[in-house]
Amino acid sequence: MTRDHSASHERRTFLCNAGSGLALLVLAARPHEAVAQQTPGSSMQIGMIGAGRMGSALGALFVKAGHPLMLSSRHPETLKDLVTRLGPLARAGTVEQAIAFGDAVVVVVPYGALEQIGKAHARALASKVLVMDVSNPIARRDGDDLVKWVAGQGGAGLATASLLPGARIVRAFNAIGAGRLASLAHRPGELAGVPIAGDDPNALAVAESLVRGIGFEPVVVGGLAMGRHLVPGTPLGGEHTPAELRRIAAGLR
Ligand SMILES: NC(=O)c1ccc[n+]([C@@H]2O[C@H](COP(=O)([O-])OP(=O)(O)OC[C@H]3O[C@@H](n4cnc5c(N)ncnc54)[C@H](OP(=O)(O)O)[C@@H]3O)[C@@H](O)[C@H]2O)c1
Repeated sequence: MTRDHSASHERRTFLCNAGSGLALLVLAARPHEAVAQQTPGSSMQIGMIGAGRMGSALGALFVKAGHPLMLSSRHPETLKDLVTRLGPLARAGTVEQAIAFGDAVVVVVPYGALEQIGKAHARALASKVLVMDVSNPIARRDGDDLVKWVAGQGGAGLATASLLPGARIVRAFNAIGAGRLASLAHRPGELAGVPIAGDDPNALAVAESLVRGIGFEPVVVGGLAMGRHLVPGTPLGGEHTPAELRRIAAGLR
Protein backbone atom coordinates (compact mmCIF):
# COMPACT_ATOMS: atom_id res chain seq x y z
CA MET A 1 0.00 0.00 0.00
CA THR A 2 1.34 3.45 -0.92
CA ARG A 3 1.56 5.79 2.02
CA ASP A 4 1.18 9.53 1.82
CA HIS A 5 4.61 10.98 2.60
CA SER A 6 3.53 13.85 4.85
CA ALA A 7 1.17 11.60 6.78
CA SER A 8 4.00 9.15 7.18
CA HIS A 9 6.26 11.92 8.44
CA GLU A 10 3.72 13.05 11.03
CA ARG A 11 3.00 9.46 12.00
CA ARG A 12 6.62 8.74 12.70
CA THR A 13 6.97 11.70 14.93
CA PHE A 14 3.81 11.05 16.92
CA LEU A 15 5.76 8.22 18.45
CA CYS A 16 8.39 10.74 19.54
CA ASN A 17 5.92 13.21 20.99
CA ALA A 18 3.36 10.88 22.46
CA GLY A 19 4.55 11.49 25.97
CA SER A 20 7.58 12.08 28.06
CA GLY A 21 9.97 9.18 27.59
CA LEU A 22 7.77 7.55 24.96
CA ALA A 23 10.32 7.85 22.15
CA LEU A 24 12.89 6.07 24.27
CA LEU A 25 10.41 3.37 25.15
CA VAL A 26 9.55 2.85 21.50
CA LEU A 27 13.22 2.69 20.60
CA ALA A 28 13.89 0.18 23.33
CA ALA A 29 10.97 -1.99 22.29
CA ARG A 30 11.39 -1.73 18.54
CA PRO A 31 15.02 -0.98 17.64
CA HIS A 32 14.32 -1.63 13.93
CA GLU A 33 12.16 1.51 13.94
CA ALA A 34 14.92 3.69 15.35
CA VAL A 35 15.24 5.74 12.15
CA ALA A 36 11.57 6.53 12.29
CA GLN A 37 11.80 8.34 15.61
CA GLN A 38 13.78 11.41 14.67
CA THR A 39 11.45 14.15 13.49
CA PRO A 40 8.79 16.02 15.50
CA GLY A 41 5.10 15.76 14.57
CA SER A 42 1.72 14.86 15.96
CA SER A 43 -0.10 11.98 14.34
CA MET A 44 0.06 8.26 13.78
CA GLN A 45 -1.80 6.06 11.35
CA ILE A 46 -4.62 4.11 12.89
CA GLY A 47 -6.20 0.96 11.50
CA MET A 48 -9.64 0.18 12.85
CA ILE A 49 -11.08 -3.35 12.82
CA GLY A 50 -14.80 -2.75 13.08
CA ALA A 51 -16.59 0.38 11.95
CA GLY A 52 -19.98 -0.03 13.57
CA ARG A 53 -21.46 2.24 16.27
CA MET A 54 -18.37 2.35 18.48
CA GLY A 55 -15.75 2.06 15.73
CA SER A 56 -17.21 4.92 13.74
CA ALA A 57 -17.64 7.13 16.83
CA LEU A 58 -14.06 6.55 17.97
CA GLY A 59 -12.79 6.85 14.41
CA ALA A 60 -14.41 10.27 14.08
CA LEU A 61 -12.50 11.45 17.14
CA PHE A 62 -9.18 10.09 15.83
CA VAL A 63 -9.70 11.90 12.53
CA LYS A 64 -10.64 15.10 14.35
CA ALA A 65 -7.36 14.80 16.26
CA GLY A 66 -5.46 14.59 12.95
CA HIS A 67 -4.75 10.87 12.68
CA PRO A 68 -4.96 9.23 9.25
CA LEU A 69 -7.49 6.43 9.73
CA MET A 70 -8.43 3.29 7.84
CA LEU A 71 -11.76 1.86 8.89
CA SER A 72 -12.41 -1.71 7.89
CA SER A 73 -15.22 -4.09 7.23
CA ARG A 74 -15.60 -7.50 5.69
CA HIS A 75 -17.53 -5.46 3.10
CA PRO A 76 -15.50 -2.24 2.81
CA GLU A 77 -17.77 -0.84 0.10
CA THR A 78 -20.43 -0.34 2.80
CA LEU A 79 -18.19 2.25 4.49
CA LYS A 80 -18.21 4.70 1.56
CA ASP A 81 -20.65 7.20 3.11
CA LEU A 82 -18.92 7.03 6.48
CA VAL A 83 -15.45 7.82 5.12
CA THR A 84 -16.86 10.59 2.94
CA ARG A 85 -18.45 12.11 6.04
CA LEU A 86 -15.20 11.82 8.03
CA GLY A 87 -13.18 13.62 5.35
CA PRO A 88 -9.83 13.18 3.63
CA LEU A 89 -7.96 11.61 6.54
CA ALA A 90 -10.35 8.65 6.51
CA ARG A 91 -10.43 5.73 4.13
CA ALA A 92 -11.95 2.27 4.02
CA GLY A 93 -10.38 -1.12 3.47
CA THR A 94 -10.41 -4.77 4.32
CA VAL A 95 -9.36 -5.94 7.76
CA GLU A 96 -6.01 -6.98 6.35
CA GLN A 97 -5.48 -3.57 4.74
CA ALA A 98 -6.42 -1.71 7.93
CA ILE A 99 -3.93 -3.72 9.96
CA ALA A 100 -1.20 -3.06 7.40
CA PHE A 101 -2.10 0.66 7.38
CA GLY A 102 -2.05 1.20 11.13
CA ASP A 103 0.92 1.87 13.33
CA ALA A 104 -1.66 1.20 16.01
CA VAL A 105 -4.75 -0.95 15.50
CA VAL A 106 -8.05 -0.51 17.32
CA VAL A 107 -10.23 -3.62 17.56
CA VAL A 108 -13.93 -2.76 17.95
CA VAL A 109 -15.85 -5.91 17.07
CA PRO A 110 -18.25 -8.30 18.79
CA TYR A 111 -16.01 -10.34 21.11
CA GLY A 112 -16.94 -13.54 19.32
CA ALA A 113 -15.10 -12.26 16.22
CA LEU A 114 -11.74 -12.04 18.00
CA GLU A 115 -10.94 -15.73 17.63
CA GLN A 116 -11.25 -15.58 13.84
CA ILE A 117 -9.36 -12.27 13.69
CA GLY A 118 -6.56 -13.78 15.78
CA LYS A 119 -6.36 -16.87 13.57
CA ALA A 120 -6.13 -14.78 10.42
CA HIS A 121 -4.05 -11.81 11.60
CA ALA A 122 -2.19 -12.56 14.87
CA ARG A 123 1.24 -12.23 13.32
CA ALA A 124 0.49 -8.86 11.70
CA LEU A 125 -1.15 -7.58 14.89
CA ALA A 126 1.89 -8.66 16.93
CA SER A 127 4.04 -6.27 14.87
CA LYS A 128 2.05 -3.21 15.98
CA VAL A 129 3.15 -0.82 18.69
CA LEU A 130 -0.38 -0.98 20.15
CA VAL A 131 -3.54 -3.02 19.71
CA MET A 132 -6.31 -1.16 21.51
CA ASP A 133 -9.06 -3.59 22.49
CA VAL A 134 -12.45 -1.92 22.80
CA SER A 135 -14.41 -5.18 22.40
CA ASN A 136 -16.51 -6.71 25.18
CA PRO A 137 -17.88 -10.20 25.78
CA ILE A 138 -21.64 -9.74 26.07
CA ALA A 139 -23.80 -12.81 26.76
CA ARG A 140 -26.86 -11.71 24.79
CA ARG A 141 -24.74 -11.09 21.70
CA ASP A 142 -21.76 -13.44 22.03
CA GLY A 143 -23.39 -16.28 23.96
CA ASP A 144 -23.06 -17.62 27.51
CA ASP A 145 -20.34 -20.10 26.55
CA LEU A 146 -18.01 -17.39 25.31
CA VAL A 147 -18.64 -15.23 28.38
CA LYS A 148 -17.84 -18.23 30.63
CA TRP A 149 -14.70 -18.97 28.64
CA VAL A 150 -13.54 -15.35 29.00
CA ALA A 151 -14.10 -15.51 32.77
CA GLY A 152 -12.09 -18.74 32.88
CA GLN A 153 -9.18 -16.96 31.18
CA GLY A 154 -9.15 -14.32 33.92
CA GLY A 155 -11.35 -11.76 32.17
CA ALA A 156 -11.47 -9.79 28.96
CA GLY A 157 -7.87 -8.50 29.05
CA LEU A 158 -6.14 -11.87 29.44
CA ALA A 159 -8.66 -13.56 27.15
CA THR A 160 -7.91 -11.06 24.36
CA ALA A 161 -4.19 -11.71 24.88
CA SER A 162 -4.74 -15.43 24.35
CA LEU A 163 -6.82 -14.80 21.21
CA LEU A 164 -4.32 -12.32 19.73
CA PRO A 165 -1.00 -13.89 20.80
CA GLY A 166 1.98 -11.55 20.79
CA ALA A 167 -0.08 -8.38 20.41
CA ARG A 168 0.66 -5.42 22.68
CA ILE A 169 -2.85 -5.09 23.97
CA VAL A 170 -4.37 -2.22 25.92
CA ARG A 171 -8.04 -2.28 26.83
CA ALA A 172 -9.70 1.13 26.56
CA PHE A 173 -13.07 2.80 25.94
CA ASN A 174 -14.86 -0.45 26.81
CA ALA A 175 -17.66 1.00 28.89
CA ILE A 176 -18.40 4.46 27.54
CA GLY A 177 -21.40 4.55 25.21
CA ALA A 178 -20.69 5.25 21.55
CA GLY A 179 -23.43 7.86 21.55
CA ARG A 180 -21.72 9.79 24.37
CA LEU A 181 -18.19 9.90 22.98
CA ALA A 182 -18.47 13.04 20.86
CA SER A 183 -20.06 15.16 23.58
CA LEU A 184 -17.73 13.88 26.32
CA ALA A 185 -14.55 14.49 24.31
CA HIS A 186 -12.72 17.68 25.34
CA ARG A 187 -15.54 18.53 27.72
CA PRO A 188 -15.05 21.84 29.50
CA GLY A 189 -13.72 21.73 33.05
CA GLU A 190 -12.38 18.38 34.15
CA LEU A 191 -11.90 15.89 31.32
CA ALA A 192 -13.79 12.60 31.44
CA GLY A 193 -11.58 9.73 32.56
CA VAL A 194 -10.95 6.60 30.49
CA PRO A 195 -9.69 3.57 32.42
CA ILE A 196 -7.08 1.64 30.48
CA ALA A 197 -5.22 -1.59 31.26
CA GLY A 198 -2.25 -3.28 29.65
CA ASP A 199 0.98 -5.13 30.34
CA ASP A 200 3.28 -3.48 27.80
CA PRO A 201 4.60 -0.12 29.08
CA ASN A 202 5.27 1.21 25.60
CA ALA A 203 1.81 0.29 24.33
CA LEU A 204 0.30 1.87 27.43
CA ALA A 205 2.22 5.08 26.79
CA VAL A 206 1.03 5.22 23.18
CA ALA A 207 -2.55 4.49 24.28
CA GLU A 208 -2.40 7.21 26.93
CA SER A 209 -1.26 9.69 24.34
CA LEU A 210 -3.99 8.71 21.87
CA VAL A 211 -6.68 8.89 24.56
CA ARG A 212 -5.46 12.32 25.68
CA GLY A 213 -5.29 13.52 22.08
CA ILE A 214 -8.97 12.84 21.48
CA GLY A 215 -10.04 14.69 24.60
CA PHE A 216 -10.10 12.27 27.55
CA GLU A 217 -7.86 11.69 30.55
CA PRO A 218 -6.43 8.17 30.53
CA VAL A 219 -6.19 6.41 33.89
CA VAL A 220 -4.00 3.31 33.92
CA VAL A 221 -5.76 0.95 36.32
CA GLY A 222 -3.28 -1.91 36.03
CA GLY A 223 -2.13 -4.77 33.84
CA LEU A 224 -4.23 -6.84 31.47
CA ALA A 225 -5.59 -8.85 34.40
CA MET A 226 -7.43 -5.65 35.43
CA GLY A 227 -9.09 -5.76 32.01
CA ARG A 228 -11.74 -7.98 33.64
CA HIS A 229 -13.07 -4.79 35.24
CA LEU A 230 -13.11 -2.90 31.93
CA VAL A 231 -16.45 -4.11 30.66
CA PRO A 232 -19.91 -2.54 30.88
CA GLY A 233 -21.74 -2.89 34.16
CA THR A 234 -18.73 -2.88 36.49
CA PRO A 235 -17.84 -0.04 38.91
CA LEU A 236 -15.29 1.34 36.42
CA GLY A 237 -17.92 1.41 33.66
CA GLY A 238 -19.81 4.53 32.69
CA GLU A 239 -18.73 8.15 33.00
CA HIS A 240 -16.29 9.11 35.76
CA THR A 241 -13.74 11.77 36.51
CA PRO A 242 -10.11 10.61 36.59
CA ALA A 243 -10.06 10.94 40.39
CA GLU A 244 -13.17 8.76 40.71
CA LEU A 245 -11.60 6.13 38.47
CA ARG A 246 -8.42 6.08 40.56
CA ARG A 247 -10.43 5.68 43.76
CA ILE A 248 -12.60 2.89 42.32
CA ALA A 249 -9.60 1.08 40.83
CA ALA A 250 -7.72 1.21 44.15
CA GLY A 251 -10.63 -0.63 45.77
CA LEU A 252 -10.58 -3.34 43.10
CA ARG A 253 -6.94 -4.39 43.38
N1 LIG B 1 -21.70 0.51 21.02
C1 LIG B 1 -21.15 0.95 22.16
O1 LIG B 1 -21.65 1.91 22.80
C2 LIG B 1 -19.90 0.30 22.68
C3 LIG B 1 -19.17 0.95 23.71
C4 LIG B 1 -18.00 0.36 24.19
C5 LIG B 1 -17.55 -0.85 23.67
N2 LIG B 1 -18.31 -1.46 22.68
C6 LIG B 1 -17.83 -2.75 22.16
O2 LIG B 1 -17.33 -2.51 20.85
C7 LIG B 1 -17.59 -3.66 20.03
C8 LIG B 1 -18.36 -3.22 18.79
O3 LIG B 1 -19.60 -2.70 19.22
P1 LIG B 1 -20.52 -1.88 18.21
O4 LIG B 1 -21.66 -1.39 19.02
O5 LIG B 1 -19.70 -0.90 17.43
O6 LIG B 1 -21.01 -3.06 17.26
P2 LIG B 1 -21.62 -2.96 15.77
O7 LIG B 1 -22.23 -1.63 15.56
O8 LIG B 1 -22.46 -4.17 15.61
O9 LIG B 1 -20.32 -3.09 14.83
C9 LIG B 1 -19.58 -4.27 14.82
C10 LIG B 1 -18.44 -4.13 13.82
O10 LIG B 1 -17.64 -5.31 13.91
C11 LIG B 1 -17.34 -5.76 12.60
N3 LIG B 1 -17.14 -7.20 12.60
C12 LIG B 1 -17.98 -8.15 13.05
N4 LIG B 1 -17.45 -9.37 12.88
C13 LIG B 1 -16.24 -9.17 12.31
C14 LIG B 1 -15.20 -10.04 11.89
N5 LIG B 1 -15.28 -11.37 12.02
N6 LIG B 1 -14.10 -9.50 11.34
C15 LIG B 1 -13.99 -8.17 11.19
N7 LIG B 1 -14.94 -7.29 11.57
C16 LIG B 1 -16.04 -7.79 12.13
C17 LIG B 1 -18.53 -5.34 11.76
O11 LIG B 1 -18.07 -5.17 10.43
P3 LIG B 1 -18.72 -5.89 9.15
O12 LIG B 1 -19.92 -6.68 9.61
O13 LIG B 1 -19.08 -4.76 8.26
O14 LIG B 1 -17.61 -6.72 8.61
C18 LIG B 1 -18.91 -4.01 12.38
O15 LIG B 1 -18.19 -2.96 11.81
C19 LIG B 1 -18.37 -4.66 20.89
O16 LIG B 1 -17.51 -5.63 21.43
C20 LIG B 1 -18.94 -3.78 21.99
O17 LIG B 1 -19.21 -4.50 23.18
C21 LIG B 1 -19.44 -0.91 22.16
